[in-house]
Amino acid sequence: MRLLFLCLILQVSNSLAQTADSVAPQQHYMLHCQGCHQADGSGLPGSVPSMRNLVGKFLAVPGGREYLVQVPGSSLSPLNDAELAELLNWLLLSMSAQNLPPDFQAYSESEVKLLRSETMLDLLTTRAAIVSRFPPEPESSPESSP
Ligand code: HEC
Repeated sequence: MRLLFLCLILQVSNSLAQTADSVAPQQHYMLHCQGCHQADGSGLPGSVPSMRNLVGKFLAVPGGREYLVQVPGSSLSPLNDAELAELLNWLLLSMSAQNLPPDFQAYSESEVKLLRSETMLDLLTTRAAIVSRFPPEPESSPESSP
């Protein structure tokens, strides 16, 4: 498993290097996201869900891949499509690597551009439907029941 994560990280950092710009995804996160999501992704209880050990689960269920781009915090951010792709890839690997599906594919600029052009109309219903598709946890923890 450890080797698999290492491979994933190498694969993503390679693809990030190809689109590297002067601002690292962590800096974009600090500037545009952590006010709500907190530096460690733990969110604000009752208003902003934790991304830790959770956000990767969205990629394993139908609709989740689109959702992570179309959620307003992502889609309405001032970042361009390449920057948002990098930021989401960084977020997934740094906060939720152990929840990623084995066939995880990093977001690309073109995928983000396409998904971002569609607006999600009913956020809460969409999110609740996707979360209900997560596989059941062996034991419940606050992180897994947002
Ligand atoms: C004004 C507060 C705020 C800011 C700023 C913000 N978000 Fe969010 N984010 C939320 C809230 C609240 C949710 C839960 C869904 C919703 O109600 O929008 C969320 C959900 C998410 C999700 C889906 C996770 C889930 O469990 O639903 C992702 C991915 C995400 N945000 C990414 C980002 C990124 C990337 C940025 C910075 C570019 C960002 N957000 C900035 C408030 C914020």
